[in-house]
Parts: sequence; structure tokens; C-alpha cells
Amino acid sequence: MPLTARFAALLFLVLGACAHHGNDAEHEHAHAHEHSLEQAVLRAPAQPQAVASSATWAEKYGTQPDLGYTGPLAFAHINYARCLEDTAAAVPFDVAVLGMPFDTSVTYRPGARFGPAGIRTGSRRQNAQRAYTLAWGFDPYKQGATVVDCGDVPVNPFDNALALDQMEVAYASLLARPVANATLARSEATRALAKDGRAHPRIVTLGGDHTIVLPILRALNGVYGPVSVIHFDAHLDTWAPPVPAPSDQSRITHGTFFHVAREEGLLRNASVHAGIRTKMAGIGDVENDESNGFRIVSTEDLDDIGLSEVVRRIRAHVGDRPVYLSLDIDVIDPGLAPATGTPEAGGWTTREVKRILRGLAGLNIVGADIVEVAPAYDHADVTSIAAADIVHDFLGMLMSAKPPKSRDERRPWDVVQGRDEL
Ligand SMILES: *[C@@H]1O[C@H](CO)[C@@H](O)[C@H](O)[C@H]1NC(C)=O
Ligand SMILES: *[C@@H]1O[C@H](CO)[C@@H](O)[C@H](O)[C@H]1NC(C)=O
Repeated sequence: MPLTARFAALLFLVLGACAHHGNDAEHEHAHAHEHSLEQAVLRAPAQPQAVASSATWAEKYGTQPDLGYTGPLAFAHINYARCLEDTAAAVPFDVAVLGMPFDTSVTYRPGARFGPAGIRTGSRRQNAQRAYTLAWGFDPYKQGATVVDCGDVPVNPFDNALALDQMEVAYASLLARPVANATLARSEATRALAKDGRAHPRIVTLGGDHTIVLPILRALNGVYGPVSVIHFDAHLDTWAPPVPAPSDQSRITHGTFFHVAREEGLLRNASVHAGIRTKMAGIGDVENDESNGFRIVSTEDLDDIGLSEVVRRIRAHVGDRPVYLSLDIDVIDPGLAPATGTPEAGGWTTREVKRILRGLAGLNIVGADIVEVAPAYDHADVTSIAAADIVHDFLGMLMSAKPPKSRDERRPWDVVQGRDEL
């Protein structure tokens, strides 16, 4: 083989090994990465010199794996399917990732219609074959659940009433599907919560501006009745629409949708905001919020009461009833997540948010979203990468029955013995 071809082959294999490990055995050891590189190189054509120069790619190199930065844009390179048009039998899933590229109800910067594509781009260095983390102590893709990227709802960009209906119908359609794995404990838990006594898939929605939560809550209401909400955001989003409103449709924005949801009876009187720090008209905004059944954990509360008390309060307030998790990327400090519609200075770090999320694992989460990612305002994909990483945490939350123990509890520094356990 000529030197350049040999170099190209080696480069391909090394890059492929860095990014794609579909055929590698389980790696739980510290040197897994080196092992897989070695194996990939060893899988080079057995006798490259013997292959005729007219050999096809398949003859010479075998498969066509996606590298971290190549291939179709599915979340974390998982299976991508057009679930809305495919049948349940064709695409079974326990957890669906679904894009809602809607951004025509914003008060400030538009652009979150590019959020689903941005978050998928931010997920490119993730893949289902290397998803074990020290923080969780397990791999969310290896817990028996089938996770599918169901693509995007083709939301109409000209008519919000139509768009909201499309999002509700799409969500309800996927929610009505049978789960792929009926023996999966966390899917099974939804059976006890659902009005029809059936297990339902969980959907992780990639927004989209925050208004997408209204059609989602309408769809969830059909299956579970009213739900509690855990709402990570710098803003309340329970603001009352103006009276009189210029039109019915104009009442529904990314700042009023929770108020409208409450009017429609979609919320239990036990929801929580986490990370609030927006400027308000006055304390009346908080009173209005409380009358909508919400309690507030402010951004500064984290400093005053500490992380475990934040987690304890949220868990205690929503209890064991069905809970919907909605995370506005603007809960994170704009220094760490600038690409969003209504940035507010002085937010939580990505690490703090991720840690609170882990503390909420095991609640009866019937669905989750991450919204308000507007990639046009990003730098070096920093917001998209943070958002994609939080989706990985959502998957961890959906797979586990309780928060993971701390890393130090699982594997004490002074007593390293055996393997990490859940
Ligand atoms: C279904 O889930 C159970 C429990 O997690 C697991 O043991 C089993 O392997 C899963 N089945 C499939 C087909 O993935
Ligand atoms: C909602 O819950 C609060 C306590 O968290 C209570 O004071 C209020 O009366 C409840 N409202 C309704 C309508 O049930």
C-alpha cells in the first residue's frame, strides 16, 4: 500500500475508533480508549497488499461508520426514524427524542427553531456505545430501553394555532405508542400513573421556544390528567396575558403558557420553578405565580440553602405524582450558555444544574424538554454542547429509580475495590 494510502487508512481507523465503538466489547476499564484504538488498528485489512487496487471500499475497508462529525444528524448518533409517519411496529421505542422547531411566540430574540438541529450538533461527540459517566455510574443506553431520535415535528411557521395543534397531535401520537420493552421498570412505572392503566413511552423534546410546553401538557393531560411541573428557568412563565388581549392567540406566548395551562386545568397545584432570577413588576408577580400552584427556588437560594436542600424541597413539593420536567437553557449563566432568547446574567453553572438533575432521578417523570436554545447566538457551540449534555442527564433520570450515590460513596478514594455499582 502506498504510504499516503496507508496513512489515510490509519487516520481513518484512529478517528473512527475515537468516535465510533459500535463493535467494540464493553469497556469499563481505565484503558478502554487505548484498547479500542488498538483493536481498530488490528482490524485493518488482513492483507492489504493482496487487495487489488480496483477493490471497492467495502472490500478494502469494510464498514462505513459515522465519525463524531459525520453522518445524519440524529441525537448522539442513535437510530433516527420518522416516527410520526412510521408505525409503532416499525419503530418501537421506550424513550423518544423529538424536535419541536417552533419559535414564533417569543418576546425578544427569535431563533429557537434551530434548537433541535443545534442540540443534535452539540451531541455529536456522544454516542450510545460510550455513554457511561462517573457522575451517574451507569450508561443510560444499556438499561434495557430503546431510545430513538424521532426527528422533528414539521411545525407550521406561519400560523401559531395550527402549529400548537400539530405539536399536540404529534406528541399525543407518540405518547399513545406501546413501549418497546414491557419489562423495563421505569416504563412500567408509568402504567400505575396513566388513566388507561397502560405503560407509555417517555418523550424528551428538543425545543423550540418555551411555548411548546403548552401543547405537550395538553397531550400529557390526555394520558395522565393534571401533572406537576419542575421548571428550570430564569423566568416564571406564569405571567397573566394582558386583559383585554388583542386576540385569543396572542395570549399564548413563551412567558404566559403556564398561566394558560393552569386555566385549562393541566397542572396539579404542586409545581416548582428552579433558578429564577428575572426582574419582575413586583411581588405581585410572585403572588400570581403562587396562585398558579408554583413554589420558587431562586438562583440565590442555591447559595443560601445548599444543593441538597434545593433537591429535597423540589422532591418533597412534587411528591410521587406524575411530573413533567421542563428546562429552559437560560437557567444556566449566559457566560456558559449564551445562545438563548432572553438571557439573564448571574445564573447557575452547567455543573450545578446537572447535579440538581441527578438529585431528581427517580421522581415519576413522564416527559422532559430542553427549550430556548437559539444557536445563532452561540460561540463555539458552547450552548448546544451544554444542552446536549443535559439531554444525556435526562436519559439517566428516565432510566434510574433513585439518584446515583456520589462518586466518592461508590468508590472511596482510600478503598478502591471491585467495580462501580449503581
Ligand atoms: C428489557 O428491560 C429489562 C430490564 O431492564 C432488561 O433486562 C432486558 O434486557 C430488556 N429487554 C430488551 C429486549 O432490551
Ligand atoms: C394550592 O396549594 C397551596 C399550598 O401550596 C394552597 O395554599 C392553595 O390553597 C392551593 N390552591 C388550590 C386551588 O388548591
